[in-house]
Amino acid sequence: MDLFEYQARDIFEKHGVPVLAAAIATTADQAEAAATAIGGKVVVKAQVKVGGRGKAGGVKLAENPKDAREKAGAILGMDIKGHTVRTVMIAAAAPIEAEYYLAILLDRSNRTFLVMASVSGGMDIEEVAHTAPEKLAKVPVSAVDGISLAKAKEIVAAAKFPADVADQVSDVLLKLWEVFQSEDATLVEVNPLVKTSDGKIVALDGKVTLDENADFRQPDHQSLVDEAGENPLEAAAKEKGLNYVKLEGEVGIIGNGAGLVMSTLDVVAYAGEKHGGVRPANFLDIGGGASAQIMADGLSIILGDKDVKSVFVNVFGGITACDSVANGIVQALELLGPKATKPIVVRLDGNNVLEGRAILKAAAHLLVEQADTMDGAANRAAELAAK
Ligand SMILES: Nc1ncnc2c1ncn2[C@@H]1O[C@H](COP(=O)(O)OP(=O)(O)O)[C@@H](O)[C@H]1O
Ligand SMILES: [Mg+2]
Repeated sequence: MDLFEYQARDIFEKHGVPVLAAAIATTADQAEAAATAIGGKVVVKAQVKVGGRGKAGGVKLAENPKDAREKAGAILGMDIKGHTVRTVMIAAAAPIEAEYYLAILLDRSNRTFLVMASVSGGMDIEEVAHTAPEKLAKVPVSAVDGISLAKAKEIVAAAKFPADVADQVSDVLLKLWEVFQSEDATLVEVNPLVKTSDGKIVALDGKVTLDENADFRQPDHQSLVDEAGENPLEAAAKEKGLNYVKLEGEVGIIGNGAGLVMSTLDVVAYAGEKHGGVRPANFLDIGGGASAQIMADGLSIILGDKDVKSVFVNVFGGITACDSVANGIVQALELLGPKATKPIVVRLDGNNVLEGRAILKAAAHLLVEQADTMDGAANRAAELAAK
């Protein structure tokens, strides 16, 4: 789960990472009040979970509370890369002397953690990483050792931080490691980490990604979920414990096993090219034991997606044999009753396939038709969606 900047800032503060006074606002009035409380110059910052807000006009300096009100009015409601700004953060403005970059992340390909650090931070860090990779130090950090003071000093030296800030940056690294480890993060990024005109090091922007696999031991993280920003279908699926991701197409997909569902998305996209470019509408893996209830839950989520024009149920019977899945589909359609409104193409194969197909044939549900092969079913589902 990605956090908003203001949530990252609060977590930083909790662990002693130096940050500036800040408050959030959802109206221009609140922004003015926050600016008054903070005092002096402030910045008004769009809270959207996407990078490059500064370049998109979502970060503006305000001279006084009246100005903050105006800037907030302009930024609230703005669209930044497809994200609508519903909240702004009002933060004290820092007198910036230099902008640095620090990140701790999970480096999956090397099975380690990695620190990236640069004295050329700020809004062009991607450009720097591209054109002058030598300016971005990369130091692996083992899960066992973490970041000790010695390691922090090694990182500071590798990135060539100036001597006058070396100790402060080392200290920030130790604290960011504490954030990373104790909050179960997979990414903690500070860009920019700045040196102010009075020589202080402060984190001006934070990006934190939390590892949802660790939610069981992080009860506090529940309160960080952005319910208003969640896709309602995804939220409903999550509530039912379904592994569902909304996509942009028209063919609803249900399958068992992540690999099968992924390849189903591919064959549907391929078949869709012949039918006016229809595409898969979602990823949904109902897993191994596909009970009637799970099938009904899955179907009701997919049928609730107004973009869906047809549904492709692609099941390979293994431990859960095809006859149980077929019974599940029949019962699911009974449970859904009049809520089932879109044509459903079912492809069953594997364990007890003949029994499974016979059950569906005997049920003779008006919306259901069967296909023998995955390609055939994908083609038919795409054709129905294109109608
Ligand atoms: N509190 C602040 N005081 C002064 N300048 C700031 C402050 N916060 C951000 N900035 C400036 O705005 C730039 C962009 O803001 P940032 O929070 O990094 O957003 P993004 O990374 O999404 O563009 C920063 O690089 C910095 O120069
Ligand atoms: Mg930034």
